[in-house]
Amino acid sequence: MDSAQERPEPTVDPVIGGGDDIHFGESGALLTYGGYLQLPRLLSAQQLESVPPAHDELLFITIHQVYELWFQQLLHEAETARDAMADGQLWWAKHLLHRMHVIARVLIHQIDVLETMTPQDFLVFRQKLSPASGFQSVQFRELEFLSGAKDRAFVRRFRGITDDERARLARRLGEPTLWDAFTGVLGARGLPSDTDEEISAALVAVARDRANHAEVWELAEALIQHDELAAAWRARHVTMVERMIGTKTGTGGSSGAAYLSSRLPLRYYPLLWDLRSEL
Ligand code: HEM
Repeated sequence: MDSAQERPEPTVDPVIGGGDDIHFGESGALLTYGGYLQLPRLLSAQQLESVPPAHDELLFITIHQVYELWFQQLLHEAETARDAMADGQLWWAKHLLHRMHVIARVLIHQIDVLETMTPQDFLVFRQKLSPASGFQSVQFRELEFLSGAKDRAFVRRFRGITDDERARLARRLGEPTLWDAFTGVLGARGLPSDTDEEISAALVAVARDRANHAEVWELAEALIQHDELAAAWRARHVTMVERMIGTKTGTGGSSGAAYLSSRLPLRYYPLLWDLRSEL
């Protein structure tokens, strides 16, 4: 037997290629894809209410769950961006705000997926949802509070949320917002920022001298982008709602599209919008 015959042929995986010396974790069996991502839990968390199962209810649950995952991510980024501003790490805050913009665009675009559901198909299971509503999304409200739009009335109006969720909202109401951190940046740069008048004057100064205030200006632009994208989501959501349920009341008990339209003028950073008129 010659030496070539003694050596066994290297095993080549028909799908991923490679030889004996290539391991993709499976040999150690320490961590698997499904285990790391907790897929058995994740993929069993879509429990339909409709009997018999309405075809489109899985889509409806999936899209809301995906939103909540992204809300969690946005909160993670926004908290760190706020703290980075407080620490003077403006480049890091800007980087994270830019990531938040990209996620926000995904959130706006994915309404297209939901709109592949017709009003008739939604009606097959809609009555089962009441009184649950996106209105009760605690993370959505946390995001509004952390961005700068704190409104205690929402916490009072919430029914049926857990003690933990109520505590999270209370904590958000008490902690600094992205806007607080930004005005802190103005102060740290020697620009008075204790009152709205002082902040407006500081913003004009920054806008008129971008050579000296480049980082602050870019941060202000990143914040107004965050604000604009939140407004764009609200507008996209309300048109989808009109298309889906017309003028019917919401499952959460509000007037529906009329309530949602009343929230369209909300801006997190009105002074950044006012600045445009001052220039
Ligand atoms: C068929 C699809 C949907 C319909 C018909 C719908 C309808 C509504 C209505 C009528 C409201 C007002 C509150 C109420 O009375 O229920 C509302 C609020 C809300 N919805 Fe939706 N929605 C849909 C999908 C979504 C999705 C996919 C999300 C993503 C998380 C979402 C998030 C929210 C949020 C956060 C609010 C509170 C908005 C605010 O207070 O400004 N909705 N929705």
